Amino acid sequence: MISGEQLYVILLGAPGAGKGTQAALISQRLGLAHIASGDLFRQEQASGSELGKVAKSYMEKGLLVPDEVTVKMILGRIAAPDCAQGVLLDGFPRTLEQAKALDEALAEEGKRINMVLYIKVSNEELLRRLSGRWICRNCQAPYNIVELPSKVPGKCDACGGELYQRPDDTAETARKRLDVYFTQTMPLIEYYTKAGKLVEIDGEKGIEEVGEELVAAIEVRVGK
Ligand code: AP5
Ligand code: MG
Ligand code: ZN
Repeated sequence: MISGEQLYVILLGAPGAGKGTQAALISQRLGLAHIASGDLFRQEQASGSELGKVAKSYMEKGLLVPDEVTVKMILGRIAAPDCAQGVLLDGFPRTLEQAKALDEALAEEGKRINMVLYIKVSNEELLRRLSGRWICRNCQAPYNIVELPSKVPGKCDACGGELYQRPDDTAETARKRLDVYFTQTMPLIEYYTKAGKLVEIDGEKGIEEVGEELVAAIEVRVGK
């Protein structure tokens, strides 16, 4: 646990950069709630809700779910009691509109984003990682057939759930998601750099090493 202040930390990075992997590793260590917009949308789909149906129609094409829907879902989620110490945001915001809406909502409560960790990975490596990813149907923990296989093939180490490949991890849809990232999400790098909040982390290194660098960056910024 670090600092007494409620911390709002954003993990920014392309599809496959390791946001979900790292958030799972470090959120508990830092006492932050891990909030992943993509995981929330997949949960809504699994439950068969209207929101899930709307989200699916965009996700299966590799497109972003409209800002209005996404912002409403996340602002509702970060108001929950388990976010009292702070949150680690994974996959949100990913448009300028989402970033501004988040800043405004936090400012209304006298809060702010403390820092944005940008996990940088080359395109080639991103596509390689996505093609080998399997995730848990139950808790959404990400595995990788090359880098991080589960102990029992096809089963989640954490909860025993069944592993499956995300339908949007096919080569074609993954490439579309990367295009969308470059046009719609990359502008956030400049937005948060100008705000003095961006810290770049080399995401090409091994999973543990990247995790250590992320934790160190947070500790430097906000104190132990
Ligand atoms: P989302 O679920 O957020 O997907 P994403 O951003 O495309 O990111 P990924 O989950 O693919 O990548 P990751 O960075 O989490 O990588 P991971 O840790 O799994 O979004 C899905 C969809 O939902 C979007 O396309 C959109 O439709 C919608 N959506 C979500 N948020 C939205 C928003 N804010 N607005 C609008 N729409 C939204 O790692 C990938 C693989 O690499 C794994 O196999 C892992 O084991 C491996 N790996 C990780 N780190 C390393 C490492 N250091 N070395 C080697 N392998 C590694
Ligand atoms: Mg993810
Ligand atoms: Zn699981």
